[in-house]
Amino acid sequence: MSKLISPHGSDRLKPLFVTDADRNSALTREAEDLPSVLLSSASAANAVMLAGGYFNPLTGYMNRADALSVASHMQTTDGLFWPTPVLNLVESSGGIEPGARIALQDPNVDGHPVLAVMDVEAVERFSDAEMAAMTEKVYGTNDKDHPGVAAFNSQGQVALSGPIRVLNFSYFKTDFPDTFRTAVEIRDEISAHSWSKVVAFQTRNPMHRAHEELCHLAMQRLGADGLVIHMLLGKLKPGDIPADVRDAAIRKMVELYFPPNSAIVTGYGFDMLYAGPREALLHAVFRQNMGATHLIVGRDHAGVGDYYGAFDAQTIFNDVPEDALKIKIFEADHTAYSKKLNKVVMMSEAPDHIKEDFVILSGTRVREMLGKGEAPPAEFSRPEVAQILMDYYQKLDA
Ligand code: ADX
Repeated sequence: MSKLISPHGSDRLKPLFVTDADRNSALTREAEDLPSVLLSSASAANAVMLAGGYFNPLTGYMNRADALSVASHMQTTDGLFWPTPVLNLVESSGGIEPGARIALQDPNVDGHPVLAVMDVEAVERFSDAEMAAMTEKVYGTNDKDHPGVAAFNSQGQVALSGPIRVLNFSYFKTDFPDTFRTAVEIRDEISAHSWSKVVAFQTRNPMHRAHEELCHLAMQRLGADGLVIHMLLGKLKPGDIPADVRDAAIRKMVELYFPPNSAIVTGYGFDMLYAGPREALLHAVFRQNMGATHLIVGRDHAGVGDYYGAFDAQTIFNDVPEDALKIKIFEADHTAYSKKLNKVVMMSEAPDHIKEDFVILSGTRVREMLGKGEAPPAEFSRPEVAQILMDYYQKLDA
């Protein structure tokens, strides 16, 4: 069996899900009598990522000092490289004090069952100025219209920190049984395929031809053994395409246009931050944890609107201290179909082309076409993928 890339910050992955069934049910029973806190969706998503080993080697939610340190210079107070605060923010402490054991309730599942148990180490309030400074550092803006900024600032300013043990994977395992995976499971799959060079593709969209070809190009140029398409399954901003539709479209594309056994279609349970460059770094950390050796970072990775420069999510990797990350990125330029060459290319590699030589459609235009039941050109979107998206939009618009 091939030896996989080591996780971030430790030799072995230490997922926080309680795997032993007896211990899990004993803790679940104990949790019923504990004081409880209803989590925000973002905090619940953090717990699911910690549970699956994606946020290795963190052992729980960060305290104030770690979160401020991570936001300002991308490392914890212990010197661990980490790009975004991993917090449990609440409106008020509700009388919870350090030393308490509490149950964390899931906001995204009916009846709010307990998602995790936490041993509270600190209860600390961020000042308005600290919230603003963290937001500015992580999201590059304090604009409340930025969906990530809005979500981050809607939870409260009191951080409950300390180690957690996670009892389940929220709605992800039940809603996406074929696609949701933990980092542990992806490592196992990579091992089972005996892949050693493994490319991860982050996505929150259906994959059009540019995305498909980006994956093929990365694999060819890196001489990779396998591709892990790793889609976000958590919350998105209004207007983004739901995970089940994206999942169906991506599976169809892989079935028809990828060689057998070259790619696996998987997903992770996290809400999109839309933090552009900082989120790209987080993406790299958790793809290393799942065993990928490379992460594709293309144009406006994890971006929204025009808050970030098109390639800021690539250049930020120059600020990562040497040896802090083992995973490497595959940098992609804007990729589009060339009418001259009859294939998808990186635009910088076709210097003799003018804009009109490429098939480029805005997201709004594609959405409009699909809504009207009009398939985008085959150079832009595979017809089978377009069909799934047309079905979705037409139902939505009906
Ligand atoms: S993301 O928010 O998850 O990054 P998306 O699913 O649209 O959004 O993109 C997935 C990956 O493909 C990202 O690395 C992004 O930079 C890259 N990408 C998407 N479209 C293009 C394109 N036309 N050219 C180059 N890279 C692209």
